[in-house]
Amino acid sequence: MNSPIPTADGSHTLFSHQFQAHYHSLHGAVQESNHVFIQNGLKHYCQKNLWAESKETINHNPRTINILEMGFGTGLNALLAYQYAQEHRLNLQYTAIELFPISLEAVKELNYPQKEILMQMHQADWENPIEISKGFDLIKHNDDINNSPLTTSSFELIFYDAFSPAEQTELWSLSIFEKLYAACAIQAMLVTYCAKGVVRRNMQAAGFEVERIPGPPGKREMLRATKNS
Ligand SMILES: C[S@@+](CC[C@H](N)C(=O)[O-])C[C@H]1O[C@@H](n2cnc3c(N)ncnc32)[C@H](O)[C@@H]1O
Repeated sequence: MNSPIPTADGSHTLFSHQFQAHYHSLHGAVQESNHVFIQNGLKHYCQKNLWAESKETINHNPRTINILEMGFGTGLNALLAYQYAQEHRLNLQYTAIELFPISLEAVKELNYPQKEILMQMHQADWENPIEISKGFDLIKHNDDINNSPLTTSSFELIFYDAFSPAEQTELWSLSIFEKLYAACAIQAMLVTYCAKGVVRRNMQAAGFEVERIPGPPGKREMLRATKNS
């Protein structure tokens, strides 16, 4: 079994023997996920597109945000997005792609909060949409992102969480970002922990405007790409 590994903030990660890489930063799994995907992804998207004057307000009508995650892994990003959405009265339509699902036994060992929600996410059937709780709809595709058709142009936020270019060069290519760009709505954002120059240039060549922003502890920068037209 894939045993949990503690990271510096106390939260667990896993190690992929296949890719010889950890699923999260050893400086803190929850800390990294929260910084990259929630604070600089979901929260930022809401501030730019939903909430007037960049205020986090709970006085707006619930609005559904369409999220795509590449690399569902432990489900930590989905879980933190769920928590954030609950706290801010957002509805999420969450689509996750994962080629190598982890076992339920491995999930049970993880020390993440709201384990019952996490278990529901993992127990959900592949390819079948499910309402995890009111306002959080999940669909998981057991698929290779390289072959996944992504026949929509409605994703508003993409959590791009593949293993790094050192391990999976092909998942950071121009053709992947062209495909993701086509699957995005106008004003959509893609966030990732990776800040490599070649990745940034591939995103730009695909049409995204790309910002380098401060990364989580242990990482100087991360990338946020926006589809402006
Ligand atoms: C960095 S880990 C993801 C971490 C995950 N977001 C989490 O919070 O645990 C990368 C994930 O991408 C998955 N993956 C690798 N190659 C893939 C592919 N070609 N298509 C879809 N998923 C893939 C891996 O199995 C792994 O779960």
